[in-house]
Amino acid sequence: MNFKKLTLALCLSACATQMACADVTGSTAKAQTVAPKLVQTAVPLSFSAAPFGKLPTGEATTVYTLTNANGVVVKATNYGGVLTSILTPDRNGKLGDIILGFDNVEDYVKYKSYFGALIGRYGNRIGKGQFTLDGKSYQLDLNDKGNHLHGGSKGFWSVLWDVKPFKTETSVGLTLTHTSPDGDQGYPGNLKVTVVYELTNTDEFFIRYSATTDKPTPVNMTQHPYFNLAGSGEILNQELMINASRYTPVDGGLIPTGELAAVAGTVFDFSTSHTIGKMIGQPNEQLKNGGGYDHNWVLNKKATNEWGLDARFYDPASGRVLDVSSDQPGIQFYSGNFLDGKITGKGVNFVYRGAICLEPQHFPDSPNKSNFPTTILKPGEVYAAKIGYKFDVKK
Ligand code: BGC
Repeated sequence: MNFKKLTLALCLSACATQMACADVTGSTAKAQTVAPKLVQTAVPLSFSAAPFGKLPTGEATTVYTLTNANGVVVKATNYGGVLTSILTPDRNGKLGDIILGFDNVEDYVKYKSYFGALIGRYGNRIGKGQFTLDGKSYQLDLNDKGNHLHGGSKGFWSVLWDVKPFKTETSVGLTLTHTSPDGDQGYPGNLKVTVVYELTNTDEFFIRYSATTDKPTPVNMTQHPYFNLAGSGEILNQELMINASRYTPVDGGLIPTGELAAVAGTVFDFSTSHTIGKMIGQPNEQLKNGGGYDHNWVLNKKATNEWGLDARFYDPASGRVLDVSSDQPGIQFYSGNFLDGKITGKGVNFVYRGAICLEPQHFPDSPNKSNFPTTILKPGEVYAAKIGYKFDVKK
């Protein structure tokens, strides 16, 4: 369902409070026939911007609010392209925030944990931060126990993006641009990046990444929202399906071994939906390496860039459903194993396993694994990747 009930409820309450019901005065039958027109009057597709605090450099940041005709809200800031809030209705039409985060930029700077962030140049880890390209060796910034994670300590998740809003008849969005200079975090080439965020009236949020370079360089961008469809508490009773028959096992530093292992008969089998907690506590070498789930699943796709449903996340208590689709070959499922209850944001305590990340992307450490799909972008080529979140409820 498409939140029509919520729309109608918002619509009716807007009518009641604003008495803006000129079109529906008269019979009930008449009110029903004009309802679609009212939707746009009561909950207009809208965009707004507000101050979000200052960076240590003194630069001011902005938070943008996108609202669709059904009342679904996505908020994003120009700092790190961070998605700060996603408000969707539960099965009773009550709006709730389904991602962890903060209500000011100072906390994003302070906690540095990629909450909601736009990740680049490279999502997840590159072993020892090293790779060789065209005979030349590169050393990247080491920001994760001797490895390179999420593009480095000054990755795209921590830069100030140029942001321009746009609106179409059926969607509202933001275009973010940034140029990462040659040598940034150790990567070769000037990389020009454009990312488009678009919230549609069909309750979908699309993220489209594109980039060009003037030297060959690895690129693997993704998004890092911490989802909890109940809004707070642990996620062990929420259910997950991942459309994958294989995953990439890792070593103790969470670097893939290079093997593509079958999930069938293991704790990694999410090919049919079940609770996250079902097998997370089982004795298993790979779960031990990840401290829980923190692995890349190899999506069941016939081509590396095929669009398809990657994962479905469902909360039986609220009825909320999140479908994650992409044109990527893999998805990182991280079960919030490093959350420890020491951080609170937007009034929610980030408890151990209090959210999950579902990050469609190329496989971690691809620049060092010749059997993984390539992540090298060459001059003259255009990097393109797309992620879609579809918000729904199950009765
Ligand atoms: C990684 C985790 C990491 C987390 C940081 C995930 O994508 O796989 O290992 O701790 O990001 O938020």
